[in-house]
Amino acid sequence: MLGVCYYPEQWPENMWADDARRMADLGLKYVRIGEFAWSAIEPTPGSFNWGWLDRAVETLGKAGLKIVMGTPTATPPKWLVDRHPDILPADHHGRPRRFGSRRHYCFSSRTFRSESQRITDAVAGRYGRHDAVAGWQTDNEFGCHDTVRSYSPDAAVAFRGWLRARYSDVAALNAAWGNRFWSMEYRSFDEVDLPMAAVTELNPIHRLDFFRFSSDQVANFNAEQVEIIRRHSPGRFVTHNFMGAFLDFDHFKTCETLDLASWDSYPLGFTDSLPMTGFTEAERVRYATTGHPDISAFHHDLYRGVGRGRFWIMEQQPGPVNWALWNPGPAPGIVRLWAWEALAHGAEVVSFFRWRQAPFAQEQMHAGLNRPDNVLDIGGQEASVVAKELGADWWREVVAAPTEQAPVALVFDYEAAWMHAIQPQGRGFSYLALVFTWYTALRQKGVDVDIVPPGRSLDGYRAVFVPSLPHINKRAVQAFGLFGGLTVFGIRTGAKTRDFQISPNLPPGPLQALLPIKVSRVESLRPGVTREVEVGNRRYDCGQWVETVESGNLDVAGRFTNGSPALVRETNRFYLAAWPTRELASDVVQRVLDESGVVSMTLPLDLRVRRRGDVTFAFNFGGDSQTAPSDVNAKYLLGAQSIGAHNLSAWKT
Ligand code: GAL
Repeated sequence: MLGVCYYPEQWPENMWADDARRMADLGLKYVRIGEFAWSAIEPTPGSFNWGWLDRAVETLGKAGLKIVMGTPTATPPKWLVDRHPDILPADHHGRPRRFGSRRHYCFSSRTFRSESQRITDAVAGRYGRHDAVAGWQTDNEFGCHDTVRSYSPDAAVAFRGWLRARYSDVAALNAAWGNRFWSMEYRSFDEVDLPMAAVTELNPIHRLDFFRFSSDQVANFNAEQVEIIRRHSPGRFVTHNFMGAFLDFDHFKTCETLDLASWDSYPLGFTDSLPMTGFTEAERVRYATTGHPDISAFHHDLYRGVGRGRFWIMEQQPGPVNWALWNPGPAPGIVRLWAWEALAHGAEVVSFFRWRQAPFAQEQMHAGLNRPDNVLDIGGQEASVVAKELGADWWREVVAAPTEQAPVALVFDYEAAWMHAIQPQGRGFSYLALVFTWYTALRQKGVDVDIVPPGRSLDGYRAVFVPSLPHINKRAVQAFGLFGGLTVFGIRTGAKTRDFQISPNLPPGPLQALLPIKVSRVESLRPGVTREVEVGNRRYDCGQWVETVESGNLDVAGRFTNGSPALVRETNRFYLAAWPTRELASDVVQRVLDESGVVSMTLPLDLRVRRRGDVTFAFNFGGDSQTAPSDVNAKYLLGAQSIGAHNLSAWKT
């Protein structure tokens, strides 16, 4: 269940055997290697140096470790860049982004596509059937360092081809894009440029189609590697290590060709430095050494959905990182808590990044399980505690049982994120922050959540939350229509057509078939400006975004002070016409859970729970002890009812 990321090419060969033995002694089962090793594998064009990697694979395998082999395409070597500068990605001014770090390739580069296939074929051909190789990771963190969208000449050519396939003739494109506006009409697809460097705002659909295209390029690039790996490596899984809070491509779609999702979890860096989560400054301070209680859980739930039930943590933060705005060490006990938290959410493996801190190059300030002097660091000690705990019989039983469906689903959509980013309409409108408002409200009620894409069957859920879904396709409408439980739809849902036009009968567009309301006006509000909403006998000062809704004679469960409907209901469907304050989200959630018969509780700020099989886990992200919400007959498997600071407990019910 535990693993580690290792870079044999970065260490003298005489350290490998000892490293491998110590990994196994620590209780690690998996070791991921190879994902940045292109220059060591192929030092000059076409001549491969397999010797070292053969020996590394042997050494690790002999120690009983299972290898996850990475394809090395995230780091094209210098000779390749010099020979084929056309592989470089371009920034949004069209300037090439050059050699000297990593991910310096454009997904649309035809040269790089064939190079990616060539090196994947070579590595998979060599190790695909090796006994020690258990699975594969394609590339590394697609999109990291803002590399999904490249504005290169190759990207322009590929984008035109993509548009041609989508619209067939340019008149259709002109109509869909509304290009009569500002004389933007094209006479042929060849005239269409990438959306870049314009005088002022570009046409939103031009950008959205470019975002869709760029997302497809990632999925196709990945699929090409997967196909090659499968040919050479039967019976092994293929995954990719996705990132946190990263929305630039459709992960559900990219993962369709993979066996499972995996993701890289850096709770402190994410809590500290990601503006789009909407965490307050006070929360960033409060959780500086633990990570926000929902940051990892959200991604576990998301990637379980992306991986159709299966996910790993491919990289788990082991200590201070080097890349956040500030880089404190994790509070004592938190590395262990993170590992258990992932497992409680259904992770199959938690793999730490990295075995040993490197004294050189860009990540020399990034901790590993071991310090640069090769002494086991605090994170390594906590990993070894987890490894021992995982040997318990009760855990074996839990793992053997299939992952269960959560009672509540939250609908998450990458295209929604793009549409909000392209047309925020109010400064700082962040789809992810809106999603987090709902997710946190649910998690503070002790509810387990599945995160699903629009259109996936909602069978079996008791309640569904849709924070916002600007474009609702037919499949999504169908899934919502078939769902018999309570659904809450949020702002901007159904606001736009596929072509980024205002829905013909006004929002919520196609959802009107299920929820016959009309959004006649939307407003964004600067910080400090709010509108009061009254629901039941409680009042909430809602800011950021409010909508005017015509609701005919539907039930109105809440109103703005001017009388305009704020929370509308048609049978089992609600529409909330404001960006909810946390209190409003929490109260709406409570009402929906109660009516749906979902068991809930109000947890203290720093406590979260999660069930796996018949075991309930409670995680304390705070510095004070907490009482686990177990009943009197609970049999404790880890910890006790009183949970110390940064600790956890688990019990059977
Ligand atoms: C990840 C990446 C790793 C390493 C790590 C540092 O984004 O996949 O290679 O850079 O971050 O935290």
